[in-house]
Amino acid sequence: MLNVTGPRAALDPIETASRDEITALQLSRLKATLRAAYEGSPFYRRQFDAAGVHPDDLRSLSDLAKFPFTKKQDLRDNYPFGMFAVPREKIARLHASSGTTGKPTVVAYTKRDIDTWADLVARSIRAAGGGPGDICHVAYGYGLFTGGLGAHYGAEKLGCTVVPVSGGMTERQVTLIEDFRPSIIMVTPSYMLSILDAYAKAGLDPRRTSLRTGIFGAEPWTNAMREEIETAFDMDAVDIFGLSEVMGPGVAQECVETKDGLHIWEDHFYPEIVDPETGAPVPEGEKGELVFTSLTKEAFPIIRYRTRDLTRLLPGTARSMRRMEKVTGRSDDMIILRGVNVFPTQIEEQILKCARLAPHYEIELTRSGRMDSMTVRCEGKAGMDAAESAAAARELSGHIKSVVGVSSVIEVVGPGTLKRSEGKAQRVHDRRPER
Ligand code: DLL
Repeated sequence: MLNVTGPRAALDPIETASRDEITALQLSRLKATLRAAYEGSPFYRRQFDAAGVHPDDLRSLSDLAKFPFTKKQDLRDNYPFGMFAVPREKIARLHASSGTTGKPTVVAYTKRDIDTWADLVARSIRAAGGGPGDICHVAYGYGLFTGGLGAHYGAEKLGCTVVPVSGGMTERQVTLIEDFRPSIIMVTPSYMLSILDAYAKAGLDPRRTSLRTGIFGAEPWTNAMREEIETAFDMDAVDIFGLSEVMGPGVAQECVETKDGLHIWEDHFYPEIVDPETGAPVPEGEKGELVFTSLTKEAFPIIRYRTRDLTRLLPGTARSMRRMEKVTGRSDDMIILRGVNVFPTQIEEQILKCARLAPHYEIELTRSGRMDSMTVRCEGKAGMDAAESAAAARELSGHIKSVVGVSSVIEVVGPGTLKRSEGKAQRVHDRRPER
């Protein structure tokens, strides 16, 4: 599928620097960040004092483990501006999480932070095979969500022609792709599937679009989904990772020439992997919860932020900076079904193995008496009769039982029945009463 062979614009020297150069830069930036956080943010001063640590205690990168974690609850407790390390007047922009329950979490950027962010998204698009002169269709949501504006500033900085479409109005997305002929699309993978549907409805062949590369992120997606999208659109599909508390999109990016996990832009973010239960660092290369410390952010330095994303660190390949394995789940997305841990992406993988099923699905959890059950609702491909649907359901339930290890109820519904995503898909509907 590889349509592009490598970066068309020059790399930043640090992208190919030696490990020693990278760690030396990290150490000096980390020292400055801890100092600025301690001096500028009353929150961090309280945290460090309570833990009995001072920025001067950091002499090597491993000393960071002595410093306290920051959690999402800390942002909620200090809503709206209590975490920031610069006077409010120095803040050029705010973003916020949607906050399905309670107050949203607010993040802030100085002018320099916005500039750094744009540089890193530009670097990410370049790693995905993009370059100056590309037309870049941005279908991540614009607004308080970091996806749209984050992608936008980065694409502009790289020298792309940016089409700021945002999410929604799916038929119009198709029209604009057909008329403006972008080579790059930045969108959630689930919304890309909605766009694929709209292609079918319009009677257009998605393999004939001008799109060469899709930069997909903001939600977990599997390598099976990558193949599905690459085949459907005859394009490269690469992964972009980020979170608003750490910056937004562009914290880590997969390179198009290797597609082997995401290079963390380690000159700006220091990653750790810890045991999600105990918080203790796990041995190099083992899977656990990803923790990030920012190394250059001014308005909102983030120290040891518990992302809840589960992954492992891997050595660099296409770039010298370390990679993180594709995030296929968050600790809070994990379904515990009759004692077995299940991630929605494991179900996605099994659905995509069934030729008669389309990649649209949702998972419903219910309880009757003391018994939990999982219903996987997915769409059959067009033109199937009842017998074929029943066979597809049997096939899927067999895969889920043998690979994931749980029994499930499968409902195969008609094409177009399930609600389509316009941004981050909500895969799991947990209707179990609280215990
Ligand atoms: O989703 C930022 C973003 C926008 C990333 C556009 C990539 C593209 P939040 O809304 O704060 O920020 O959500 C962050 O989304 O902790 C992960 O759980 C999940 N996530 C983001 N990217 C990926 C990815 C944006 N590539 C949360 N794979 C993170 C898996 C992802 N999960």
